[in-house]
Amino acid sequence: MKKKTPAAVRGTQDIYGIDAEAFAFVVETFDRIRRLYRFGRLEMPAIEKTEVFSRAIGETTDVVSKEMYSFEDRGGHSVTLRPEFTAGIARAFLTNGWQQHAPMKLATHGPLFRYERPQKGRYRQFHQIDTEIIGAAEPHADVELLVMADQIIRELQIEGVSLHLNTLGDAESRNAWRGALVKYFMGVKGDLSLDSQARLERNPLRILDSKDRQDQILIAEAPKIDSFLSDEASRFFEDVTSGLKASGVKWVRSQSLVRGLDYYRHTAFEFIPDKGGEAASRLGSQSTLLGGGRYDGLIESLGGSPIPAVGWAAGIERLALLIGSSNLHNHHCDVAVIPAGPNVEGEVQRILSTLRKQNISCEFAFTGNMKKRLQKASAAGAAFAVIVGDAELAKGEITIKDMVNGEQFPLSLDVLSQAISKMLLEKRIVQDRNEGVDPNL
Ligand code: HAM
Repeated sequence: MKKKTPAAVRGTQDIYGIDAEAFAFVVETFDRIRRLYRFGRLEMPAIEKTEVFSRAIGETTDVVSKEMYSFEDRGGHSVTLRPEFTAGIARAFLTNGWQQHAPMKLATHGPLFRYERPQKGRYRQFHQIDTEIIGAAEPHADVELLVMADQIIRELQIEGVSLHLNTLGDAESRNAWRGALVKYFMGVKGDLSLDSQARLERNPLRILDSKDRQDQILIAEAPKIDSFLSDEASRFFEDVTSGLKASGVKWVRSQSLVRGLDYYRHTAFEFIPDKGGEAASRLGSQSTLLGGGRYDGLIESLGGSPIPAVGWAAGIERLALLIGSSNLHNHHCDVAVIPAGPNVEGEVQRILSTLRKQNISCEFAFTGNMKKRLQKASAAGAAFAVIVGDAELAKGEITIKDMVNGEQFPLSLDVLSQAISKMLLEKRIVQDRNEGVDPNL
């Protein structure tokens, strides 16, 4: 009896084809730009002790209370598959005594795990690009991170996305604001949605995130952070916004932006698609592309001294959903090598490896009859086919077929790679000329 194939775990994805190319394009762009901004690469464990996340992110957050993949390992220790990078990076900073390197500018990317209800743009295993600056209290750090985020989104050619910016103030301002919000929402508790009533007990700032219509009317009237900001917190926010202005990064103020993780102080931000636009419709209800902020208290919550830090992360799948296929790398195929006889395999392998060492991309068309092999060469978009037959080989030659105009001619094996490089160059010049590109550029 045929065995039943196991299904993939709900909320995980097997990413292939154009989606995998878009994913790779996001990672390549991130890696290139983080070098421009001189962020060092960091590789982190995918599992941490559970307390790293519960202490850093906050017990009452959705991530910690409902979404973590936590289990006891065989040694009886509670471990968790990372739901985000920041807490683990802060732990690594303390474990390794990296204070001596502060300020550290760090970048990483990889898979994360949250037990959420899967839908378009929201998965249980997803991937982020992530950057952090640890050990910098200056608003310049916030500005640098935001300008970098803006540049990445631009270079991915994602349009119709805006930076929403808020300040949560320092610990003192934030606590005073929280107290005023609790008082206000207690007064209108009966009119809040059931979800928000529950949030009022656990995590009142999250009420500001509610999508419920009635909640939104009440939120519009709720006390605003600006009335509670200390002078120092106001000055900090002004410095961040003037840095953004000087760098030419546009933003909108979003007074109800609080973020889902408890560790933020001062700057909090998200890049969100504009309502009604193309990007918003492609992302569905999962609107936030990139989110982050300053987390000056986090390292202390893990037992360190008060070390200021700021960072952001963006969902790779969400960014990839917004990249048009025309922006993806064209994985061009220069040459298809086609064996046309029983005794030529060794020579074909030699030709393939010589051409590839010369940076010429090759497809080895080895299945089916000659017609099928030529079809494969054409489907791969090869500019030329190199046909290797016994009779020609005996004379030290192969046959070249120009896949565009169909011309066919013999060529000596001795000059194969130089001749192909030259022909490819000529073809590209012709192609660029047809597309209006100056070949001298
Ligand atoms: P976050 O807002 O929880 O922040 O996640 C950042 C981004 O990760 C989101 O904007 C979204 O694009 C993506 N994301 C989150 N959950 C999912 C999911 N289930 N499926 C697909 N994509 C998802 C953080 O993680 C903070 N650690 C960011 C940060 C870094 N703050 C300071 N430093």
